[in-house]
Amino acid sequence: MKTPHEIQYEAFAAETAYYTEQHAKLYADFADNLIADNSFSIVYEGVAHACYTPITIDAAPHLKCYILAPLAVLPEYQGQGYATRLMEEAEKQLNADAIFVLGDPKHYSNRYNTPHKVGFPVETQAPVECWFARELTPGTLSELGESTSSISGPFADPLMWKEPSEQI
Ligand SMILES: CC(C)(COP(=O)(O)OP(=O)(O)OC[C@H]1O[C@@H](n2cnc3c(N)ncnc32)[C@H](O)[C@@H]1OP(=O)(O)O)[C@@H](O)C(=O)NCCC(=O)NCCS
Repeated sequence: MKTPHEIQYEAFAAETAYYTEQHAKLYADFADNLIADNSFSIVYEGVAHACYTPITIDAAPHLKCYILAPLAVLPEYQGQGYATRLMEEAEKQLNADAIFVLGDPKHYSNRYNTPHKVGFPVETQAPVECWFARELTPGTLSELGESTSSISGPFADPLMWKEPSEQI
């Protein structure tokens, strides 16, 4: 059985158009650091892994919200719905009000399609068009309006909010 670190490393190392081996190590180590810091971690069918870390919406701190990252599927299993099924399973287990993700629209814009006005929890140059959310409790984000957000632990490191080209 592969470890979360192995799944993350192999998935990112194979994505040579966007990432180098150094990125693969950075994200695999990031996953391990999140797990050590008690983020929710899920290995799906031995081939996919993701972490979900609590994020606080400052205007509604009672809400149970998470940010998804890193997410990885072993290269030979990609494009077969494993990531989607992992996210479905994680959402069942977490019982969250909303889940956020910063990432590529092609991977996330369909599933994470709830309009929202929640700011990044860390100062970043990342484009807001890539800051997606999915409300699981109806109305959570649509009734909220504007809010800042907060996060602690490894995910509060500004390095993890930079463009890949600026991380190495
Ligand atoms: C991104 C990744 C996790 C997707 O896993 P997967 O099991 O192939 O994804 P799925 O088959 O469940 O598809 C999930 C969505 O991503 C889209 N997608 C997946 N791979 C894609 C690709 N190479 N190009 C375009 N869209 C893609 C699917 O169409 C689907 O979108 P939909 O919800 O609109 O139908 C996987 O390719 C991976 O591990 N990549 C390397 C690491 C990485 O880039 N992680 C994400 C960082 S933002």
